[in-house]
Amino acid sequence: MTVSIDVPAAAADVLSKPIGHLIGGRTIDAADDHFPTTNPCNGEVLAQVASGTEADVDRAVAAARAALDGPWARMTPSARGKVLWRLADLIEARTEEFAHLEAVDTGKPVTYARLVDLPLTVDWFRYMAGWPTKLVGSTVPISAVATPGDYFAYTKREPVGVVGAIIAWNFPLMLAAWKLSPALAAGNTVILKPAEQTPLTAALLGEVIREAGVPDGVVNIVHGYGETVGAALAAHPGVDKISFTGSTEVGRHIVRASAGNLKKVTLELGGKSANIVFDDADIEAAAAGAANAVFFNQGEACTAGSRLFVQSGVYDRVVEGVARFAEQIKVGDSLDPASQMGPVVSDQQFSTVMGYLESGRQQGATVAYGGSRIGDAGYFIQPTVLTDTAPGMRVVDEEIFGPVITVQRFDDVDEVVRAANASCYGLAGGVWTSNVARAHAVADQLRAGTVWVNSYNVFDPALPFGGYKQSGWGREHGAAVFDAYTETKTVVVPTA
Ligand code: NAI
Ligand code: MG
Repeated sequence: MTVSIDVPAAAADVLSKPIGHLIGGRTIDAADDHFPTTNPCNGEVLAQVASGTEADVDRAVAAARAALDGPWARMTPSARGKVLWRLADLIEARTEEFAHLEAVDTGKPVTYARLVDLPLTVDWFRYMAGWPTKLVGSTVPISAVATPGDYFAYTKREPVGVVGAIIAWNFPLMLAAWKLSPALAAGNTVILKPAEQTPLTAALLGEVIREAGVPDGVVNIVHGYGETVGAALAAHPGVDKISFTGSTEVGRHIVRASAGNLKKVTLELGGKSANIVFDDADIEAAAAGAANAVFFNQGEACTAGSRLFVQSGVYDRVVEGVARFAEQIKVGDSLDPASQMGPVVSDQQFSTVMGYLESGRQQGATVAYGGSRIGDAGYFIQPTVLTDTAPGMRVVDEEIFGPVITVQRFDDVDEVVRAANASCYGLAGGVWTSNVARAHAVADQLRAGTVWVNSYNVFDPALPFGGYKQSGWGREHGAAVFDAYTETKTVVVPTA
């Protein structure tokens, strides 16, 4: 297939042939069935992708099981760490190829793919490379059935086993890294199911994984649709754990499907995060921060600060600041280095977001800026600021996952904390104030997994991340992620 886009040679190579699965160290493209992945800037087909079946999932699970019991288990923790570190180096060296593939597949600006997605991938593998040698157990003094010294008891951490990682299309490479790096650090083997909208960087990652010396079968990649490959993984008796990032609705499917063998499940789901600006905040910083919090990545971020609450005294200034920021965002083709925002990912996402804008208007919201499609090719939507919004409106209550912010006014702290917490979600939140005590007090009261003070969307592999309420189960990153990727074994030995 010839592509008309300008991408580095190795990236063009990925696009030059149908994309196959990676199973047991081999690229498999025996599929009868392919599906296209397209460039959301223009709808152009980028590549054909093998559409996985239940049989492909069976083969991948068998390969992962064999690797789990074989070469991966025999590798020392230090050697496993070295492989992860090498993976980080190889990805970093191919930043341009990865960034371009990510940009054309998702629509996000290549500049941001290079500055955000790639470092947040490389840093994760590097951080997690240090963990295999540090997953220690403990010795435990026991009392109930013993007199001191009768028994020696200790714990150890073991891999959960075969992990199914099902991920979304908004940060395809980064999410793959967020699943793979801790899973591999803990000694698990993995079957990765990329989102069907965005398979390209996973294809290149598969090549890099082989180059890095990851033994065959340790990482398998099966492409395809959620209803087939995703559902087969979630229900598979040979899969010990599912780690999922995506919609709350699919999260519920996965929980139900996983009940058969009661596999472990962790979920990173949707959000409707509150971003709260108090009168005493640095207003310029808060307005820019609030705009960035929602418009970054076309608003296609689970942590998007999509509900903005502004205290009455600064309401007009903040709304004006956010609207001005929105107006200045350069929306354009993902490969244009000047673009700050691209199209949303697919025709389906485009219809969803446009539908929300229509419902907002019908339910009485005022469009302070934006509200329309840009051009007539691709899925470009203006960054949009909606005022006169209130609970009960769909744009306020539901996750839009597009470049849309709703603004509400408030007077006092208790009122805004109540309003912020009145959501079925609880992924993240923001507080903008110069009052340190208030910052901590509000952070304390928000029912959300992460609270950013005078900042937003600060991520680090050392910081636990995950949702309260319907935003998810479990935590990723930091030491906390190993609760999800290890089993703790207790061993008790009589001493006499
Ligand atoms: P989705 O939840 O359908 O897709 C995420 C992943 O789940 C994909 O790999 C998909 O193939 C897979 N999947 C779909 N159905 C499945 C099933 N029955 N069993 C197992 N796996 C399955 O997300 P979608 O439809 O692309 O987006 C819909 C909405 O979800 C968005 O508008 C947004 O509100 C939310 N979303 C949230 C994300 C987050 O980061 N929390 C990421 C993507 C979407
Ligand atoms: Mg695509």
